[in-house]
Amino acid sequence: MPITYQSETRTFQLDTAHTSYIFRVYKGNYLFHEYWGRRLRPVDLTRLFRTCPTGFSPNWAGSTAPDESLDLIPAEYPFYGTGDYRSPAVEAAFSDGSRLLDLKYVSHAILPAKPPLPGLPSLDGGDATLEVTLADPTTGLTVVVSYTVYEDSDVITRHARVVNTTDDIVRVSRALSASVDLPSMDYDLIGLYGAHLRERQVDRRPLRHGMQALESRRGASSHQMNPFLALAAPNADETAGEVYGATLIYSGNFLAAAEADGFCTTRMQIGLNPFDFSWKLEPGESFVTPEAVLTYSAEGLGRMSRNFHRVFREHLGRVKGTDRPNPIVINNWEATYFDFDEEKLKALIQSCRGLGIDTFVLDDGWFGHRDNDTTSLGDWFVHRGKLPDGLKPVIDCCRENGMKFGLWVEPEMVSEDSELYRAHPDWAIRQEGRPFCLGRNQLVLDLSRPEVVAYLKETIGRLLEENDISYIKWDMNRHITDQYSAGLPADRQPELLHRYMLGLYDLLGDLTSRFPQVVFEGCSGGGGRFDAGMLYYMPQTWTSDNSDAIERLKIQWGTSLVYPPRCMTAHVSAVPNHQIGRVTPFGTRGLVAMSASFGYELNPLSLSEEERAAIAEQTASYRSVSDLVAQGDFYRLASPFEGRAEAGADDAAWMFVSPDRGRAFMVYVLRLATPGAPARRIKLQGLDPQAVYHIDELDADFGGDELMFAGLATPYAMRDFEALSFTLTRKG
Ligand code: DGJ
Repeated sequence: MPITYQSETRTFQLDTAHTSYIFRVYKGNYLFHEYWGRRLRPVDLTRLFRTCPTGFSPNWAGSTAPDESLDLIPAEYPFYGTGDYRSPAVEAAFSDGSRLLDLKYVSHAILPAKPPLPGLPSLDGGDATLEVTLADPTTGLTVVVSYTVYEDSDVITRHARVVNTTDDIVRVSRALSASVDLPSMDYDLIGLYGAHLRERQVDRRPLRHGMQALESRRGASSHQMNPFLALAAPNADETAGEVYGATLIYSGNFLAAAEADGFCTTRMQIGLNPFDFSWKLEPGESFVTPEAVLTYSAEGLGRMSRNFHRVFREHLGRVKGTDRPNPIVINNWEATYFDFDEEKLKALIQSCRGLGIDTFVLDDGWFGHRDNDTTSLGDWFVHRGKLPDGLKPVIDCCRENGMKFGLWVEPEMVSEDSELYRAHPDWAIRQEGRPFCLGRNQLVLDLSRPEVVAYLKETIGRLLEENDISYIKWDMNRHITDQYSAGLPADRQPELLHRYMLGLYDLLGDLTSRFPQVVFEGCSGGGGRFDAGMLYYMPQTWTSDNSDAIERLKIQWGTSLVYPPRCMTAHVSAVPNHQIGRVTPFGTRGLVAMSASFGYELNPLSLSEEERAAIAEQTASYRSVSDLVAQGDFYRLASPFEGRAEAGADDAAWMFVSPDRGRAFMVYVLRLATPGAPARRIKLQGLDPQAVYHIDELDADFGGDELMFAGLATPYAMRDFEALSFTLTRKG
């Protein structure tokens, strides 16, 4: 059994293949976190704990014993007002103005099947679920904390449900998904920060005393910070060392925090951001938090990432079913921007014939009278100036040239210059009578309002019903300001941003289940909403508007810390690169993009015959490894964040290995070449050390042990931005 309860010690033990997570009901009926780490046999860890009595740590009510303080015990789901001064997981206010909570164990249940989280995306399946019910004896407020174990991937998910079992209104102002107290602060904090065009850069720093918070307040998970944090032993690297990782299946405001206290212990937390949030619960109502995904790795960051990748590939909405590689796409955005018409599109589509591309995606500019980004969002009918006969001739042209058709939409937005806004100005998020902010000349629709969600279900649904569309690119090009809803009463205004996400999930759930054959790609000015909440509905996301292959090394490396490479879309674009002007070899652009969901973002008409032939070769070679990208285990070998030019190591390398270790695909990219640098050897990972592998590109055999322990030498004569790939097959 992956979850056991020892009644003598009142201990819960949650086991995965390599890890254990243990907590118990302590004196005073408080939940006490005991252990999270390598797997243990069933154990009583009572002997491990010495609570050092100290001044200024108040006793809990009814006790005077010096060590009986909530300030000192490692808590499982901490609360406010009764002696624990660290950050709580939950805060609530009662109608008499009290904010005091004292959550004690009431009961528990071990369930064979995990109940879904209402209205929220979450992992399915799981090997067992534990629900522990806590209650505040004075008010009766109830909190149910839930844990689900995913044994094979060493993952435990957590969420909480606050139930108003009182007979008056309760306002919940903080409800995190998970909180874990670790017994030391000897960790590095790792996060993924960034900006538009520079998403998910790896940031690693030693944990300090006090609160360290990674968060979004933008109404989206954001380019600026990803909903993820890891605490890693200072010596942990890709292959060794302890790492605790946490992410959230949520796409809105989040908080991921580590707080090291005066006793040098660490509270690690993740959940909905309490900033500008509160939720009114009428008697009998519940509030359910998003789901947190936690994993422990004793084998460094590489294993942490593979645990996340595996659980997402096997249990996360439409990411599941990884035996189906994503289609190879060509998108017209960087080829034409807004400047196209039917003839131009047809010529572009015809030029793709024979190149091995599956789907043509028509990007922004096809609707309303959208000739630039100042207009028409919300008017999801065809721009007759550009496409006088509608989408049909373009779709027919795709079919005639052996491709499917995809379409860009940005349903969450509205332009002031649109029929939709003129009809429903109150459907935008803003406050009547107050000047409001525009972002990219547009406003955000108020998805907390059911009538807005219903309108979008109908409008986007009709577009999909009336046209033969196999792919939707769902964009979102600004963050939320003017956080005010004309649809909510005054005392529910702080619910707006979470209600927005619930409305969006409702909309996406409806469309993806009504149109299961359509592949949805998420996008938010590139990778501004790259999170597990979006991936649940849209199994791939445009990773960044920065399509330069060298910039993408860092962006894709950082993204891979949490998300499977197949969830990133990456396209070969033209040079000089449109975002930063860099010129990189076509082969390098191909290999970087092939390490994800592959495609093109250029105009084949502007290419030479030679370059067109290279595209045909590239799509064929992607097809030969796309199953590895989709289903293989991903290993990061050389970090673009740690390059040392003088050591000839200003580079990046990674590889995919098939589940049976029989095949592998490795990519090596040199950034800047350095004369006179020592020979570079890259140690491969994940192979069978006893096996012999043939490397096609070198036409030579190597031992798995040789490749992993001695390494593979890269050639001397490489130039700036050059890349190599190695395709390995086990012999015999
Ligand atoms: C931002 C996206 O990331 C781009 O790929 C493109 O779709 C533009 N929006 C279109 O406005």
